[in-house]
Amino acid sequence: MKDDDQLAPQGLRGLHALSAFFIGFFVLLHMTNHLVGLGGQETHIAFMAQARQIYRQPYVEVALVGLILWQVGSGLFMLARNLTRIKGVAAWAQALSGGYLALFLLVHVTAVIAGRAAFGLDTDFRYAAAGFFAAPWHWFFAPYYFLGVLALFVHVGCAAYWNVGASRPMLGATLLGGFAGLGALFAGLIVMALSGALFPVAIPAHYLAPYGQ
Ligand code: HEM
Repeated sequence: MKDDDQLAPQGLRGLHALSAFFIGFFVLLHMTNHLVGLGGQETHIAFMAQARQIYRQPYVEVALVGLILWQVGSGLFMLARNLTRIKGVAAWAQALSGGYLALFLLVHVTAVIAGRAAFGLDTDFRYAAAGFFAAPWHWFFAPYYFLGVLALFVHVGCAAYWNVGASRPMLGATLLGGFAGLGALFAGLIVMALSGALFPVAIPAHYLAPYGQ
């Protein structure tokens, strides 16, 4: 895959990048929430209560879910279109991270909506962490969340790579490697926090009910 035709056509790529820019505001807040939450369950919940004042507005949530559907749909369309032409480490990293991110986002947002609408749960830290305390579900949630955060960072790193990589390949590769390394570190820490490896985690019984426990 050459630089000038990656993820063609150009217009679709531009709209994919534009919606990523808007989704990015939420994702930045959301990742900050998880990093602040490394300080403890209560810290995570307190930060989310503040952050929700911004994104738990009906028009913000509808716009966010709409943008995510567009992001996933346009991403999968470009992936399918270019699948046979993918060549090189950066192009494969972009395709694999994008493909996983699309799958992750569909499952993740559906789970959040189901948690609120079907199970009547407050989808805070306890909802995210419950799966780690409902064996054997921890075998699913540890790689699922780890790869979700890693894929996000790798995908952003790929965008940085394509933007500078054509003219300065060493800088592009360093940026991609840096994003991937940081993503793996954050992903590991977040999974450790959710699983109770960093601080004690308390999960009320009704959060375990959806797992039949
Ligand atoms: C370990 C990783 C993650 C965990 C534990 C996690 C957990 C959560 C939780 C608990 C919520 C509900 C928030 C609320 O009720 O206010 C949520 C919502 C959401 N998350 Fe994540 N998340 C993770 C990673 C990600 C990533 C990597 C993305 C995007 C690339 C993402 C995108 C979203 C979106 C779009 C929502 C829905 C917001 C809404 O409409 O209310 N999450 N997540």
